[in-house]
Formats: sequence, C-alpha cells, structure tokens
Amino acid sequence: MKEVIVLDDVSRIYRMGDEIVYALNHVSLCIYDGSLTSIMGPSGSGKSTIMSIIGCLDVPTYGHVLIDVEDTSGMSEKDLSYIRNRKIGFVFQHFSLLPKMSALENVEIPLLYAGVRPKERRERAEEMLVRVGLSDRMKHRPNELSGGQKQRVAIARALVNNPRLILADEPTGALDSTTGHEVMELFHGLNEEGKTIVFVTHDRSLASECQRIISIRDGGIEDDGL
Ligand SMILES: Nc1ncnc2c1ncn2[C@@H]1O[C@H](COP(=O)(O)OP(=O)(O)O)[C@@H](O)[C@H]1O
Ligand SMILES: [Mg+2]
Repeated sequence: MKEVIVLDDVSRIYRMGDEIVYALNHVSLCIYDGSLTSIMGPSGSGKSTIMSIIGCLDVPTYGHVLIDVEDTSGMSEKDLSYIRNRKIGFVFQHFSLLPKMSALENVEIPLLYAGVRPKERRERAEEMLVRVGLSDRMKHRPNELSGGQKQRVAIARALVNNPRLILADEPTGALDSTTGHEVMELFHGLNEEGKTIVFVTHDRSLASECQRIISIRDGGIEDDGL
C-alpha cells in the first residue's frame, strides 16, 4: 500500500510560561492512499494538533512529516503553502467560510491562490457545488444557508483543486445527526472515487463506518486501528 502521509516520531510541544504541554508525544503514523480513516479521542487529546500537522498547517517541534514520501522538514513557508493548496483539502467544524462572499466565491478561493483564470474558476467552482448537491444555492451567502449546506460549500472548496487528501476536523460536530450522516455519505462517495480521507469525530457510529479508527489519548496513539 502506498503511503500518502507518514508521521515519524512527531512531538508538538507548547510552552505556556513555565508550563510545557506535549500536545503530541512521539507519534508515528502512516496514512495510506485511498483510505478512509477516523480519529477519535477525548477533548484536549491532540486531535486538532495531529490534523494540523498532517495538513502542514503546523510543523512538529521534533520529528518528521512526509507527504508523498517527501520530507517536509525545513521546507519554506512557500513550499508548504503550495502543498496545502494542491495536495490537501481542509474541512473544519465551523465551516470557515468568508461571510461576505457567496457560496460560489467561497469555493473559488483556492483556485484564486492557484492562479486559475476567472472563467475556469467559475466553471470549476460551479461543478463542485453541483457535485455536493448545491446547484440551487450558488449565489447564497453563508448566513443564508443551513449548517449542512454550509458544510457542503466547505467540502466543495476543499475539493476544487482536486487534492488527493481531504482532512476534516469534526466536520459533523456542529450538525444534527441526520445532516451529519448526509455529510458522511458525501465523504464515503469521495473515498469510493479514490480520495484519501481523514476525519476527526466524537460519533462512534460515524467512526465505525470507516476501515480504520485511530484512538488518541494524552498526545499519544492509544490504538492505531491497523
Ligand atoms: N496554541 C496552543 N497553545 C498552547 N497549548 C495548546 C495550543 N493548541 C493546543 N494546545 C494544547 O494541546 C493539547 C491538544 O489540543 P488539541 O489538539 O486542540 O486537542 P483536541 O483537538 O483533541 O481537543 C491541549 O492540551 C491543548 O490545550
Ligand atoms: Mg480539536
């Protein structure tokens, strides 16, 4: 099996005055191409930290992160932002949409950063919104959409640059359970099309629909689910 992400003995330490917090403590982990993985663990156990590090939004204090067998240690911020833009799509609990922009404009943002021209941007963003079932909501702003619709916009935005890897930190955490299951259906469909997906959840029934459940506790892997 091909590895998309490897964490090799990763620690992430926060210093708060005199206090030292090991948000991650010697974590080693592989995520394989085409897999669907959930991460579970109590609040404060390091789930968001591990997602940020997998997604190159944050870098380890110690250890190495390999993306497509390329070590990211020592990469410049420019190289890391290129990886984030092209290889990874992010979905967050609270959607992180820009409030003054329409659904369509929100989905176009990663394409803007990638230097795609306006006409193609619009076409690709529309295609993605159709893909997530929002063809009739493209001109709506976030405050004119339901929670589930906002998360679909965020998923369309995560997908629009055609990344191999989708990272979702509690994507259903702000949704009711029916809407949460609908969002999960979307992830299952994307996984069947070949996307590698890692998501954090507190919902054991959603987690158990995955091939693999990673359990983390106190910044360490309790069970890597393999
Ligand atoms: N920016 C930060 N500064 C200091 N400590 C942090 C910071 N971010 C997270 N932590 C600490 O790291 C630990 C893991 O946090 P986090 O990864 O957000 O956990 P989870 O997502 O599982 O709730 C917690 O103890 C948290 O307080
Ligand atoms: Mg978190």
